[in-house]
Amino acid sequence: MNLLVIESSPHKHGSSNLLAEHFIRGAREAGHTVTVFDAARASLHPCVACDACGMSRSCCQKDDMETVRREILAADMVVFVTPLYYFGMSAQLKTVIDRFYSFNGQLSSKGMKAALIAAAWDSNDWTMEALKFHYETLCRYLNFQDMGTILGTGCGTVSMTEESEFPRKAYAFGRSLS
Ligand SMILES: Cc1cc2nc3c(=O)[nH]c(=O)nc-3n(C[C@H](O)[C@H](O)[C@H](O)COP(=O)(O)O)c2cc1C
Repeated sequence: MNLLVIESSPHKHGSSNLLAEHFIRGAREAGHTVTVFDAARASLHPCVACDACGMSRSCCQKDDMETVRREILAADMVVFVTPLYYFGMSAQLKTVIDRFYSFNGQLSSKGMKAALIAAAWDSNDWTMEALKFHYETLCRYLNFQDMGTILGTGCGTVSMTEESEFPRKAYAFGRSLS
């Protein structure tokens, strides 16, 4: 499979990207091709709801979203990677997702596979609830097949993450993809 991993943390070497790194290693070992798009270091602007695209024509904003569009439409699976911010995804990732608007139909008709990797400081049983529900709702709406999630609770710093069970789980998840 061709996988597009969309990272979105301001911490290039932070917790969520660490989990993504383990996932990617597993996926590559399993023979998959992985492309990474780092939304936190890209030039991306929020959707301005001008509706010039009518949800199916090119976006009037010319920025790095053209790369995402090309890469996601060429991929079999998309992996969303985010730190948990106020119980949701980062603004950097949400900006990418809002910009799906201009090719919404093309994207949802692909029936692609999807996964979510997240890192949070807290480790309450409800810490990831809202993010998980949002992701599942997106999968439902965009006709994505959910392949799984790595919800790294108690992963507030790189050392906390390294000491947790989540890097191993992320690697195993990537390695298990067929
Ligand atoms: C703006 C902001 C909001 C945050 N909100 C939450 C939160 O709602 N719950 C939580 O457990 N951690 C929260 N955190 C902590 C981060 O999710 C956590 O430190 C995570 O490991 C950061 O991942 P990163 O290194 O990939 O950026 C927040 C951090 C920031 C900067």
